[in-house]
Formats: sequence, structure tokens, C-alpha cells
Amino acid sequence: MRAIFELNEIGFQYTDTQKALSGINLTVREGEILSVVGSNGSGKSTLLHLMCGLIYPTEGSIAYKGMEFQEKSFKKAAFNREFRSSIGFVFQNSDAQLFCPTVFDELIFGPLQLGYPKDLAVERANEVVQMLHLQGYTDRPSYMLSSGEKKRVAIGAVLATNPEVLIFDEPMSGLDPKTRSFIIDLIFELNQIGKTIIVATHHLDLVDYLKSRVVVLSERHTIEKMGSSDEILSDTDLLIKANLIAEFSHRHNGTVHKHLSLGFLSHKHEQIRKKN
Ligand SMILES: Nc1ncnc2c1ncn2[C@@H]1O[C@H](COP(=O)(O)OP(=O)(O)OP(=O)(O)O)[C@@H](O)[C@H]1O
Ligand SMILES: [Mg+2]
Repeated sequence: MRAIFELNEIGFQYTDTQKALSGINLTVREGEILSVVGSNGSGKSTLLHLMCGLIYPTEGSIAYKGMEFQEKSFKKAAFNREFRSSIGFVFQNSDAQLFCPTVFDELIFGPLQLGYPKDLAVERANEVVQMLHLQGYTDRPSYMLSSGEKKRVAIGAVLATNPEVLIFDEPMSGLDPKTRSFIIDLIFELNQIGKTIIVATHHLDLVDYLKSRVVVLSERHTIEKMGSSDEILSDTDLLIKANLIAEFSHRHNGTVHKHLSLGFLSHKHEQIRKKN
């Protein structure tokens, strides 16, 4: 499969003093699912923002389908259009993405921006309303929705333009179990129909379910390891080192237990202290 993104020795700094990413070498191939995991502040959102052209590397180079791009590349109309119509980005914070007066306006905004005729834009928006169960919300402003509802609108707004690459930043945050399960199935199905998917997440159960290739970012903002989800999720030492699991204590039948937060797999109780 051809490369969608090739990142070569990428570094990024928001300020002079602190690196957000360093020495990142990574290829994302057409049709794959890539999960990006790492602790808070490890650089997941920064990596995704670089891939969707919201920010530009301060070191190294990034290419989309073999075309290296920087800020000035987007001044070329052909590249700008090809890139913007092919890459869909769902923000970690839905409020950063939703700004139209109503949900329906939000859903037709992308298609209209890409030059779809009005009737086709409306048709796309209606398909997305069905797909994401947004009936009943279409006339409401997004700020009157719960965060889980906003997340569905944000995903819908991106799907309305039918991009070939979908980038999700923490798609599971703040969702109830039923909505999480719905979003996991949706991401999986989008991949099944050929979309390339990149997901940044803390949720190891999502990584486990998607059976994707996984990039683990370290707290030093470098790639700690890349591998299959089975390989990464079975490496307990790696998960502790990358601050993806930790030991915590809880009380159970009058006894304090300590175990790793391996909710996505089975966990073993280890008795460390009996209650008096
Ligand atoms: N706008 C910004 N200005 C300055 N520093 C920033 C900015 N955004 C992020 N950073 C810093 O860059 C580093 C990487 O942040 P990033 O948001 O990419 O992490 P993350 O892995 O997505 O974290 P989280 O799991 O909390 O979403 C952190 O040290 C963070 O403090
Ligand atoms: Mg983030």
C-alpha cells in the first residue's frame, strides 16, 4: 500500500524552551488504522495537528502522498484543495470545531466549502444525520448539546465531506459506554470501507478492539515503540514506562488490593494488606 504520510526526523517546538516532539520517523499507509498512544503531554495532538496541516514542523520534513508540504504549499490552490478534501480531522475538543448557528449548518459547511452544489451538500448532511443518529438535533445550536452529542456532530461534520483519511484526536473522551461502543464500531466500519484512520487515544480498549498498528509516544516526546496492538498491549513494562497504565489501590471485601489498571484485559488481584 502506498504511503499517505511520511514523517522524517520531525521535531516540533511551540516555544524556544520546550520540545513537543522530537526525532519522529513514521509512515502511515493507505487503508491502515494507526493508533497513537502516550501520556498527557507526550505529543499526540501535536503529531496529529502536523499531519493535518494545522501546524508545520520546526525540524525534519513531512510528505502527503509523496508531496512534501510546508505552510507555503497551501498557497497552491491544487495542493490545498486535494489535501483539504482528502483529510478529515476530528478535534479533541469539539468546541474548537463547531461554530455554525445550527447542527445542520455545521453538517453542510464542509461540503459547501469544497464547492458541492447546495442539493448535494444537503443530501450528504442528511446521510450523516441518519448515520450518526442526529435526528432531533439538526435545528439546535451546537452549544446547546451535551459533549457526547457535540462529538457526534463533530464526527458528522467531517464525514459529510467523505474524506479518504480520517484523523481522530481522543474520539472516546467524555462519552458514555453506549456512545463509545457506537464510535468504536463506526471507526472500524470506516476502515472496512477503505478509509485510512489515525486515532490518538488513552483508551487501550479502543487500541485492543481496532487491532491496529500502534505508535507509543514517550514522556520525552519521542517514539518509544511501534508494533501491533497485541505486541504493545502485552508489554506491561512498556505500558508502565509510557505512563499508560499505573498501579492503584482499591478496597475489596474488607481488604486493600493493589493492581495495574489493565481494564482492557483481565487483571490479577494481589493482596497486599488486610484490614484490621
Ligand atoms: N499551544 C501550545 N503552546 C505551548 N505548548 C503547547 C501547546 N500545545 C501543547 N503544548 C505542549 O506540547 C506538549 C505536547 O502536547 P500535546 O497537546 O500534543 O500532548 P497530548 O499527548 O495530546 O496530551 P493529552 O493526552 O493531554 O491530550 C506538551 O508539553 C504541551 O504542554
Ligand atoms: Mg491531546
